Amino acid sequence: MSSPVLGIMTLYLNEHRALEERSIYRRMILEGRKRGLDIYVFTPADVHPGGKKIEAMVFHSEKGWSREWRPFPDMIFDRCRIQRNRRFQQLLAFREKYGHMLFLNRPLRNKWTIHQTLSAKSAFREHLPETVLFQDMSDVNRMLKASSLIYLKPINGTGGRGILRIERISSEANMVLVQGRDQKRRIITPRKVHLSRLGSLLQHWNMKDKYLVQEGIQLQLPNGRVHDYRMLVQKNGEGDWELTGCAGRMGAEKSVTSNLHGGGQAVPMHRLMKQWITDEDLRNEINSTAEKLGISVATFLEDTYGDLCELALDLAIDKDGRIFLLEVNPKPAREVFARIGERNIYYKAITQPLEYALWVYRNRTVSTPNKVKVTKPVTGKTTPARRSRKSRLK
Ligand SMILES: Nc1ncnc2c1ncn2[C@@H]1O[C@H](COP(=O)(O)OP(=O)(O)O)[C@@H](O)[C@H]1O
Ligand SMILES: [Mg+2]
Repeated sequence: MSSPVLGIMTLYLNEHRALEERSIYRRMILEGRKRGLDIYVFTPADVHPGGKKIEAMVFHSEKGWSREWRPFPDMIFDRCRIQRNRRFQQLLAFREKYGHMLFLNRPLRNKWTIHQTLSAKSAFREHLPETVLFQDMSDVNRMLKASSLIYLKPINGTGGRGILRIERISSEANMVLVQGRDQKRRIITPRKVHLSRLGSLLQHWNMKDKYLVQEGIQLQLPNGRVHDYRMLVQKNGEGDWELTGCAGRMGAEKSVTSNLHGGGQAVPMHRLMKQWITDEDLRNEINSTAEKLGISVATFLEDTYGDLCELALDLAIDKDGRIFLLEVNPKPAREVFARIGERNIYYKAITQPLEYALWVYRNRTVSTPNKVKVTKPVTGKTTPARRSRKSRLK
């Protein structure tokens, strides 16, 4: 019997067919092979116009990477990150046309929609910073009255791009300090401005309906650098959500964001938290609350938006030990664990999606290659698309 085939779907970064995360995919392919899972990488641009085959990227230890025409895979692992171009339009068309296929994960929504969805559940509300969608400057002024620190973030942003931090200066009435990064992630020169001038300063940023205005959490360490945590939750080989690992991140000097791609540094979580929260009991409590939060957010988002196989949560912990969810990332990088030398966690971060894919295949298919059928009938009152794969199978 031939092996089940998993297609990792990604997007080229440019016209020269450059790929992100090639080394992760190579490891996934090799680990998949050990487990009887045949994996190749493709992009929507590699689908033959006839729609029957794909010019896949395959990896062999002896030959390295090469291209081969392959039939459509049994399952798709969608790793496509947002781009503003034709390639992304092609992806949307692919998801539409081949939506009936077996996807390990479906796309999530923008930061504002996710925030609204999560705020509907009371257990999550205490972990969400106050957030509104930018309409006009009155939103910024109102938030700055309630909180001396705010963040402005694009609803479709990634990697710390286009994020501003505005802080009231306590010693000078109506003055604020504006810091942040532009759309290309370059650190902008910090500016001290009067509140009445803030509107004209922000005018060209075009924020209406495109930005969040969010309560800021004080996260500056004694060395002046900001910090937060990256938590990875994944589905395991039994189809259940599990915490894979959590790592600390410390922003670059003069940066208001901690993202690694913006020069941030990865630090083991316990080491970072020890500097911030001195009480050991409180640290233990934070760890267990954060884990429960991660699992329940993943479960809830999957119930709402359809199948998911992994999520990374950006978590902030304030000086009192309160946990805030800053962002949910549906296409997480895993390198934070490699950078802090947590090899076992890094290995698990790479292999869990493969174990999960095998679980999905075992539970949903009859063994005709490339012809996937649901064997167990869908029952129950909830709309199938809104229930997790595991609960659908029960
Ligand atoms: N409300 C906030 N309070 C304090 N820091 C924040 C806040 N929101 C974001 N940040 C900082 O900015 C970084 C990037 O923000 P995030 O919402 O994760 O957007 P991105 O998609 O660009 O990663 C966070 O990791 C954190 O360091
Ligand atoms: Mg983030």
